[in-house]
Amino acid sequence: MLELDRLRVCFGGLAALEGVTLSVHAGEILGLIGPNGAGKTTLFNAISGLVRAADGKVRLQGKDITRMPMHQRARLGVGRTFQAPQPLHGLSVRENLVVAQHYGAGQRDPARLEAILHLTGLAAKADADAAGGLALAELKALEVAKALATNPRLLLLDEVLAGLETAGRQRFITMLQGLHQHFNVAIIIIEHDIAAIRTLCPRVAVLDAGRLIAQGPPELVLREPAVIACYTGTGPGNTAAAEASHG
Ligand SMILES: Nc1ncnc2c1ncn2[C@@H]1O[C@H](COP(=O)(O)OP(=O)(O)O)[C@@H](O)[C@H]1O
Ligand SMILES: [Mg+2]
Repeated sequence: MLELDRLRVCFGGLAALEGVTLSVHAGEILGLIGPNGAGKTTLFNAISGLVRAADGKVRLQGKDITRMPMHQRARLGVGRTFQAPQPLHGLSVRENLVVAQHYGAGQRDPARLEAILHLTGLAAKADADAAGGLALAELKALEVAKALATNPRLLLLDEVLAGLETAGRQRFITMLQGLHQHFNVAIIIIEHDIAAIRTLCPRVAVLDAGRLIAQGPPELVLREPAVIACYTGTGPGNTAAAEASHG
């Protein structure tokens, strides 16, 4: 449903993405990993229309969307989160979703919003709180909820698990699985925690310095020398490096 064909994105002289060819199937969950600065967020920006490709193509359900502005891509079904949650702080959770829904398909769908509120665990806080007062895990859930409210066929999740402690992370993973099942949406998830990637993703793609260096089932990809090498030297805190080097 999504096809990237030799995608190239440049910032001045720097090619942040180079020759990236990658497909995502309808309803699939694809993990996207790689060291900091590899180009993961830039790939999301190129798919969602926040940055323009210097070369190559982005196709959604066979349609060339490479030159399309961001809101038009949202309307065709590209939904995304941002690495730092960006709620409309003065509005309630429900109002945030109504605004997001308007930005996406442009149709009011109260039943869908109720389902999203329920499945993200935000129903109890839907009207009571201004979104600015939510805890981190709730803000992250709201970020996912807003993206889902746009009625995406493809959902791009940028490090939505980052900063959550172990129990909260596990709850969040379960929530994502529930959302995926209910809405049958294709997902690309950027995540550093390889255990989470193994749980969520039958397939993973690895970016390094703007190039796609591997893709396939996590248990195979994480053993590839090129993948292990790209994580070496990024520091002992890197869970992917640790796990890749320990097999
Ligand atoms: N708007 C921008 N302007 C200039 N350089 C950018 C911009 N966005 C990203 N970059 C650069 O592109 C590279 C990839 O960044 P990014 O996609 O954020 O990496 P990742 O999400 O994998 O950590 C980095 O070198 C980063 O500094
Ligand atoms: Mg990033």
